Amino acid sequence: MQQLGSSKILVTGGAGFIGSNLVEALLGKGSRVVCLDNFSTGKQENIKDFLTHPDFSMITGDIRNADDCRNACEGTDYVLHQAALGSVPRSIKDPATSNDVNIGGFVNMLVAARDAGVKRFVYAASSSTYGDHPALPKKEDVIGKPLSPYAITKYVNELYAGVFADLYGMQTIGLRYFNVFGKRQDPDGAYAAVIPKFIKQLVRGESPVINGDGSQSRDFTYIDNVVQINLLALLTDNPAALNTVYNVAYGESTTLNELFVLLTMLLQGLGLPAGEIRPVYGPPRAGDVQHSLASIEKARKLLGYNPKYSLPEGLKQAINWYYENLK
Ligand SMILES: NC(=O)c1ccc[n+]([C@@H]2O[C@H](COP(=O)([O-])OP(=O)(O)OC[C@H]3O[C@@H](n4cnc5c(N)ncnc54)[C@H](O)[C@@H]3O)[C@@H](O)[C@H]2O)c1
Repeated sequence: MQQLGSSKILVTGGAGFIGSNLVEALLGKGSRVVCLDNFSTGKQENIKDFLTHPDFSMITGDIRNADDCRNACEGTDYVLHQAALGSVPRSIKDPATSNDVNIGGFVNMLVAARDAGVKRFVYAASSSTYGDHPALPKKEDVIGKPLSPYAITKYVNELYAGVFADLYGMQTIGLRYFNVFGKRQDPDGAYAAVIPKFIKQLVRGESPVINGDGSQSRDFTYIDNVVQINLLALLTDNPAALNTVYNVAYGESTTLNELFVLLTMLLQGLGLPAGEIRPVYGPPRAGDVQHSLASIEKARKLLGYNPKYSLPEGLKQAINWYYENLK
């Protein structure tokens, strides 16, 4: 295992949900951290606690701008590339912008990282790459046809990372995140993820809308598991673990109806009258897969990934955080 020590690590998208949790973990380990973000979906609020940290620096810039990427990569040892426009519905509404940011920006970052001679480029890939393939659990080498522009962009990222590894000898690792949740995930807006949105609505006594009949399932993944695998991906010295992609999940599937019940039970435990709230069922969403469940064997075997937080354990942490922060 390599050591991070006082390595300089660039986290793109570091003002976002996953990125800000990575920044926090890296600062806690004594690394020097640079954040590149244009605050399109990220928030000042997410990084405010780091701004006074002597090992943190913020670059406000856009990954669509090659100069911004070059500046951010200068003197950098490792890159954790998280910046992208997330959300399947957003990409259906505006495919061109998702393409520009998620593919154009990704290539800019690869070029900048290559030119700066970074040791390793670890990037956020996505479970959406499995597309319409029906097999469960999802294994890394069996994917289907993409169901949305977002899914295309995330798959193209993997193709580019592979080509940059082959052509320029870069070390890359792609992490296919499955429905990540936890503190600082945005509960607001048209493209909010289901867990923070439902928690906020339930805390306020409102009825969440479940798209479809609620039988669709997801492998919900708590943020600390995601932080763990990012650190493992940075540090592994197993050559067989490089230049490939990994599922990042807990390895269990939960339907949206089950999620709803779990949330109401946990909120009742805090003394909230959530048990009286019933969900409203709406039309299914275009571009969504029906079922999602990851095999995490590859990550276990090659990276030593061992997720500590199940869905209920992660939800307890997340609910406590939202309860404190939504008051
Ligand atoms: N959250 C999930 O469940 C999930 C699942 C699969 C993949 N991912 C991927 O993980 C990464 C992080 O997602 P997240 O959930 O933290 O989303 P997020 O929206 O909270 O974070 C993304 C960050 O990237 C920044 N950004 C966007 N466009 C940019 C640009 N052009 N230049 C610079 N910065 C830009 C945003 O301002 C934001 O801070 C993304 O690549 C996303 O596609 C997330």
